[in-house]
Amino acid sequence: MNFHKKSVARRVAILCLVLFAATLTPSGKSQAQEIEVADVMEVVGEAYEALVKAIMLVPVLELASDTPYGEIARRAKEIENASKQLPFADSLKGDQTVIALSHQLRGRAALLRKSAAKNNFSALSSPLIDLRRTCLQCHSEYRF
Ligand code: HEC
Repeated sequence: MNFHKKSVARRVAILCLVLFAATLTPSGKSQAQEIEVADVMEVVGEAYEALVKAIMLVPVLELASDTPYGEIARRAKEIENASKQLPFADSLKGDQTVIALSHQLRGRAALLRKSAAKNNFSALSSPLIDLRRTCLQCHSEYRF
């Protein structure tokens, strides 16, 4: 009886240790896949090109009233989402400049999205230029 109790207690203790150890093992491998800067930038670059086209070209070639506001809002949102991943990308992790500039990128893309949501054509080009400044600032920070 006493022996049986001890053995149960031991099993419980071992189980606890195993469960505890599981919480300690590095979760790097089981975590979501690594984020590559180049992959994030591919999305950002494509979205930015689409924004330039939608904001600068379409209204010039056609009419300001044909401005694809939905597309602009969608592309701006893509940049906002990508900017959230940027500080976690492999080679940039924890870099204070990257954190600050990613935050700025998100804010400026959000401004663009909000102007698009209001169908406010005249409030699109200046946030687009500001957005571009953030791209350039970060790229020059990394010397290219
Ligand atoms: C917070 C920093 C940061 C910001 C902001 C940023 N980038 Fe980048 N970008 C990088 C880094 C770092 C690389 C180099 C990635 C690599 O090749 O490893 C890069 C590379 C790129 C590339 C080349 C991708 C390739 O390797 O083929 C493009 C295109 C690009 N960025 C577009 C943009 C655009 C457009 C914006 C703004 C809308 C922007 N980036 C904003 C950091 C940034």
